[in-house]
Amino acid sequence: MSALLIEGGKRLHGAVKVHGAKNSVLPILAAAILGRGESVIHNCPALSDVTASVAILEHLGCRVRTEGDTLWVDASQLVRSDVPDALMREMRSSVIFLGAVLARTGEAEMSFPGGCELGPRPIDLHLAALRRLGAEVAERAGALCCTAVGLTGCDIVLSLPSVGATENAMLAATGAEGVTTITNAAREPEIVDLQNFLRSMGARVRGAGSSVITVEGGRPLHGGEHTVIGDRIVAATYLSAAAAAGGEAELTGVDYRHLSTVIAVLSEAGCAIRSTPERICIRADRPLRGVRPVRTAPYPGFPTDAQAPVMAALCTAEGTSVFVENIFESRYRHVDELCRMGADIRVEGRVAVVCGGKKLHGAAVKAADLRGAAALVVAALGARGRSTVTGLAHADRGYQDLAGDLRALGAEITRTEERET
Ligand code: EPZ
Repeated sequence: MSALLIEGGKRLHGAVKVHGAKNSVLPILAAAILGRGESVIHNCPALSDVTASVAILEHLGCRVRTEGDTLWVDASQLVRSDVPDALMREMRSSVIFLGAVLARTGEAEMSFPGGCELGPRPIDLHLAALRRLGAEVAERAGALCCTAVGLTGCDIVLSLPSVGATENAMLAATGAEGVTTITNAAREPEIVDLQNFLRSMGARVRGAGSSVITVEGGRPLHGGEHTVIGDRIVAATYLSAAAAAGGEAELTGVDYRHLSTVIAVLSEAGCAIRSTPERICIRADRPLRGVRPVRTAPYPGFPTDAQAPVMAALCTAEGTSVFVENIFESRYRHVDELCRMGADIRVEGRVAVVCGGKKLHGAAVKAADLRGAAALVVAALGARGRSTVTGLAHADRGYQDLAGDLRALGAEITRTEERET
């Protein structure tokens, strides 16, 4: 089992370029299916979720090749319209392929994406949007079978600004005759990135980043070309690492405006953060201070994905901080492991109280989900002594080279690849 070995308690000092955004490239890879030609995607991160998406594209009949961080997807010929169960199990967010496959082929089949470590992950809003566009959606024996003789543009209103449902509706709407409006759409930067990729394919999409997105569908699309935005959650993780360990770090490759709520919280905790369009510089002289309650919310609110790493940094603060996780039901699975490192955190339902003033010490800890893995690494950097972090398959879904990037920031961290026994 592979593990990260971390010698904590040392201040950071270094610079790193943040890789492309996982939550942007995944819907963009699905969107590539819509183009009757070859798409080129730059700044594509090397993540296990990207590998899983490429496997789905090749299963469907696309030809994919990679050179460095550029991916070519030729979707001229599709031969299938189903996502195999094994691939769905590997990555539940494969549900994002539903709208694109349906728009391109008129049908789509995949096993029902189950819940995940974060709790139940319903897709009722995705299915309601597809039905509004005219798709027949049958749920048979754990499988989703969608057919559409033709999709027709319409007005879709989402009861909550779901990122995935917004993306599925956008992708399906490109294949619908006429105009579709998506109201109460998610406003995340990754939605804007998807719109920009779709536009490069000849699609007429506007409004991404606002609550109302309009798609003029029914036009055949060609291959597009796009450079994926930097990953704002990876950037939030690295800022949290500098805050926890103390020292200074310079991040490039990401738009600071995409993580302004995270920057505000870390600044309130006592970090000095300067941002320009090119870089984010953080200086953290310990000890951090406790902050006012951090409530996760849809963008532009505080991102749920940053809750765990920022909480880890605040475990080292002198004062107490409170988190309220409003998006997912089970997103405090990193708390027990942080407490093994000496943190004092009390969880009551959606509320976590992080009592400050504790000195963290190294420990052997295991990650239970993607951002929880990041949180354990952040805490280990701020802890005195050696830590071992396992459960790295979770981290590999969203961090291209966590150890390498943190070493570039001056951390003493190595990854051991012990063979599975
Ligand atoms: C996306 O997940 C991200 N994943 C998540 O990132 C992120 O945490 C989440 O958005 C919120 O920002 C990708 O983009 C691949 P949602 P998604 O639909 O689309 C409920 C990470 O760490 N809901 O916005 O699944 C749902 O239960 C991952 O990178 C319904 O009720 O999130 C949740 O409570 C984790 N019905 C809330 O909406 C639906 O049909 C937000 O979910 C869909 C969602």
